[in-house]
Amino acid sequence: MSLEICPSILNAENVEEFLDNLNKVSEENIENTVAYVHLDVMDEKFVKNKGVSLEKAQTITSFGFLNDVHFMVEDVKKYINDVLVYKPAVITIHYEAPNFEENIKYLHEIRDSKRIPYFDIGVSIKPKTNVEELEKYAELFDVLLIMSVEPGLGGQKFMPETYEKIQKAKILLGDKILQLDGGINEENIEDIQKSGVDRVVIGSYLTSAKTVAELEDKFNKLRRE
Ligand code: DX5
Ligand code: ZN
Repeated sequence: MSLEICPSILNAENVEEFLDNLNKVSEENIENTVAYVHLDVMDEKFVKNKGVSLEKAQTITSFGFLNDVHFMVEDVKKYINDVLVYKPAVITIHYEAPNFEENIKYLHEIRDSKRIPYFDIGVSIKPKTNVEELEKYAELFDVLLIMSVEPGLGGQKFMPETYEKIQKAKILLGDKILQLDGGINEENIEDIQKSGVDRVVIGSYLTSAKTVAELEDKFNKLRRE
């Protein structure tokens, strides 16, 4: 299966323009079709910075994309409650955030209650967190989001230690959707693809494209095999 590209709008100067360009690139080449757009939500506590406002989830939907929501927040439950109105396709919470076990069970409660359409449950780990710590929760999530940079900022450098983590996750956690986030671009995509992940979040490399042609060129570079 080919690697799924999940663009992040964190560093987009104009989100609407970026999503419009993404749509145009998808129309031109089926290989480049994007299903999920990644929404980085931050609270200035779990990470120091400001992320994207939750309302942008509506904009993502209005352009025909699915929301892949990444919560880098402390009060996880509050944010989960607030995001439901946007019917996200994936909700990812951090293992390192307070009350992890309670929060992941809360996500199951919501999913079981069918209050909103089915969504995948994701868990993200920071670069210094060991995959082993998640073994006992393996039954409770669908997506493992491995951070390949410290969370909080776009445009950082990919940490090569990530490769070892990917292999460990495959052995220890069974059949999960493996997603990488941070520092991914045309230089490292080939090695990342070889490592066997399913999905990659790509922010600044894509959002720096100002025109449809530039964006298309970037997708072609990511897709060349
Ligand atoms: C960082 C965010 C990422 C970010 C990736 O904390 O979780 O999703 O948007 O941006 P790049 O691709 O620029 O590293
Ligand atoms: Zn993210």
